[in-house]
Amino acid sequence: MIDLIKQRIKTVLDHDDVIIETPKKGMADLAVPLFAHARKQGVSPKVVYDKVAEVVQDIPEIVRTEFSNGFLNIFLVRSVVGEVILKDILSRDHTYGTSDEGKDKTVVMDYSSPNIAKRFSVGHLRSTMIGNALRHLYEKGGYKVVSINHLGDWGTQFGKMIVAYRLWGDDTLIKANPIDELQKLYVRFHKAAEDDDALEQQARDALLKLEQGDSETVMLWQWFKDESLREFMDMYDLLGVSFDAHAGESFYNDKMEPVVEQLDKLGLLRIDEGATIVDLEDMPPALIKRSDGATLYMTRDLTALLYRHETYHFDKIIYVVGNEQKLHFRQLKALSDKMGHDFDLVHVNFGLVLVDGKKMSTRSGRYTRLEDVVNQAIADAKTAIMAKNPNLQDKDDVARAVGIGALIFNDLKNERHLDIDLNLEHMLTFEGHTGPYLQYSGVRIASILKDSTLDLVKADMSAYEENHYFEVVKLLAQFPEIIEKARLQHAPNILARYLINLAQSFNTFYGKEKILVEEEGRLQANLLFIKAIQIVLFEGLRLLGMTPLDEM
Ligand code: ARG
Repeated sequence: MIDLIKQRIKTVLDHDDVIIETPKKGMADLAVPLFAHARKQGVSPKVVYDKVAEVVQDIPEIVRTEFSNGFLNIFLVRSVVGEVILKDILSRDHTYGTSDEGKDKTVVMDYSSPNIAKRFSVGHLRSTMIGNALRHLYEKGGYKVVSINHLGDWGTQFGKMIVAYRLWGDDTLIKANPIDELQKLYVRFHKAAEDDDALEQQARDALLKLEQGDSETVMLWQWFKDESLREFMDMYDLLGVSFDAHAGESFYNDKMEPVVEQLDKLGLLRIDEGATIVDLEDMPPALIKRSDGATLYMTRDLTALLYRHETYHFDKIIYVVGNEQKLHFRQLKALSDKMGHDFDLVHVNFGLVLVDGKKMSTRSGRYTRLEDVVNQAIADAKTAIMAKNPNLQDKDDVARAVGIGALIFNDLKNERHLDIDLNLEHMLTFEGHTGPYLQYSGVRIASILKDSTLDLVKADMSAYEENHYFEVVKLLAQFPEIIEKARLQHAPNILARYLINLAQSFNTFYGKEKILVEEEGRLQANLLFIKAIQIVLFEGLRLLGMTPLDEM
């Protein structure tokens, strides 16, 4: 119906930018701002209004229109509109909001991508969670998604790790506690390198040996990698995240040379102080090879990009990586442009994770292990749940869903380019803008619905004429648009905020209105209403990567 209104207005105005707003609090059910169109046509808004009102008047769901302060205000037959929208949601269930926008289109998504032999840091949690949510949003839009974990399993850190291992490594300690020990070695290397310049050179030499396939060096690398991967996999299981491919940086070892040759053939390479580079407009040159011949992060990313294009024929490629790599991805795009491609390459950037306002870093040793954070969140969630509902079955499953949900929501609720604070106490409260608040709202609905039977025929739709019902109906009607917007802008926070709005509206409603009333017509209208809210809330949570709950 909203689509129909939009369509008609577009035609009469001969313009694609028609905005339909849903003003709060009964001023109108829908409102269309007319200023911009009036300005464009050089007439007053009232003149535009007269034209537009004419073409929407005969839509059966519209009671009347009115001109007010430059807006076309539309009043709907709320009972009819409510019935149509709510029944539509009920019949589509979790497919409500699903679209085929991306039919026959493939999106490659590169996210999580932690570095081997280092702890999976909370920084990588951001990439994992944002990437996972975007994956769901694209799939919801009908796209085929190929998710790739571009593991950092190559590069200078391995040179450093190998040098440190040879200097101070203790096999028994490492075998007992691999990642912790490797992490310690890495930190120790950086401390020592501050006073000893030779160490950095040794690390570069070790990396070169690795690249040349020196068997002893390769064996060490493989060992570090196996140990790390095992731990990463446990974490992904816990978070409910999976990937279509784990092709990390080392996967491209034997694929880079042809790419470098291609760059050469295109006449793009230049030698600068021994290093091989490609000059780019308006930004620093891209480093392809160091003076000692070693390849770089960029060389691998360019090779990976071309490989993925050949392998998956993507229509779009998305990299979920922190703000600090903005330049890198601009360079990568520019580089591929120079090679004659025109990839739709999106860098989905995000801010840092701060603990007590301070940046975390693996290098300084002031890192927080994701594992510790996750386990603490789950433990705290369990304490909170035990206090609220001591007789709950499956306490551990629920605690896990709540603890992890809290982390996810805390991550996704704000615009992603901003830094986020990691404060378990805040994110685990049952009130305010938190994961537990959303899950708990869903639990409330589930407990009301548990012992009732829905009978649509008996519902008295006149209930939806009332403001506090219709406000929520309008919100529910917006869900498909919200998903689309969140996808287009790669902004899960749009969906997160929407869900908070929806839960708040439901809770306000719940405070005002008795849902399980005697009168059958009203009772059924209420049940239909909250069932629709539940469907949207649950699907919204799922899209964010959270687990909706019936009990907690
Ligand atoms: N491993 C990198 C890091 O932790 C992120 C890799 C992102 N993906 C990519 N294709 N560059 O900084």
